[in-house]
Amino acid sequence: MPFETIKQSLASDMSVVDRIIRTRLHSDVALVNQMSEYIINNGGKRLRPALVVLSAKALGYSGDYHHGLAAVVEFIHTATLLHDDVVDESELRRGQATASALFGNAASVLVGDFLYSRAFQMMVEVNDMRVMQTLADATNTIAEGEVLQLLSCHDASVDATSYLRVIYCKTAKLFEASMRLGAILALVDNSTEEAVAKYGMHLGTAFQLVDDILDYSGDEQATGKNLGDDLSEGKPTLPLIYAMQHGDADQAAMVKLAIEQGNIESFAEVLQIIKQTGALEFTRQQAQRESNAACAALSTLPDTTYKRSLLQLADFAATRQF
Ligand code: IPE
Ligand code: IPE
Ligand code: MG
Ligand code: MG
Repeated sequence: MPFETIKQSLASDMSVVDRIIRTRLHSDVALVNQMSEYIINNGGKRLRPALVVLSAKALGYSGDYHHGLAAVVEFIHTATLLHDDVVDESELRRGQATASALFGNAASVLVGDFLYSRAFQMMVEVNDMRVMQTLADATNTIAEGEVLQLLSCHDASVDATSYLRVIYCKTAKLFEASMRLGAILALVDNSTEEAVAKYGMHLGTAFQLVDDILDYSGDEQATGKNLGDDLSEGKPTLPLIYAMQHGDADQAAMVKLAIEQGNIESFAEVLQIIKQTGALEFTRQQAQRESNAACAALSTLPDTTYKRSLLQLADFAATRQF
């Protein structure tokens, strides 16, 4: 089932979430409104809020706190994107100029802070210590992940294990938290909560593995992001790590140099090596493994349309082109 069809099945919940997002973006400071609306109202897959909704519903929750928490998760995600585009010096996001390219780095950092802190105001309203703990921990871990990644940039000795740690922190943790929130709201037992959290962790890992493939081989029109951002930053992502390990000495030396220099001029050459060594297929297989592990984690959940959507999202995460 295509991604849009899965989202269609959640349309009524997601329109409530969107309304909350729009209302709670408001600030008396004009630039905050202008920038946050620019980035939030102009696209984005809304995948993490969909997870909060699906998790809560798949576990039988019948209240309405999941809508607000879905909005919170999207605010945190968007704040990380505002900061990430400054750090990565990216020019394109969601098919349009990044906020940093349009409004500048200073404004992007500060509006990112506005979104984080608005998210914290909103989560307090739920008045549940475990909800706050989950979101505070996830936000802190994302920040650590971005710092860890900064330290690994231009370092060609980074191995797959360190890479996986970075993507767990910067990406998978928020997927995990989104799923956990549904479980906390639904008051399920500990093992069910851990099962859906595990689904989120594997799903997020698959999602970032594919993001790192698409940074080399995606269609910019579809992803709404520029190709080659990772190479410009000298990010040792799995396609490059694999290519260095499986290429011949010349190929390995070429990729190593490109990482160390963050050399976008060598993009075509690096891409050719990545393709010749089968690094993209390998990374796709790893994403598929994570996606399978995500599905396996849900084995004890009752069969509902929500569970089926979660299984289909796992497939989307591993095969997506956008
Ligand atoms: C982008 O996330 C950042 C990553 C973790 C790869 P998404 O691909 O979910 O971004 P939007 O919200 O759809 O723009
Ligand atoms: C996403 O990593 C990490 C966070 C947003 C925290 P990327 O840097 O790969 O994300 P994109 O490719 O810019 O969306
Ligand atoms: Mg980035
Ligand atoms: Mg990326």
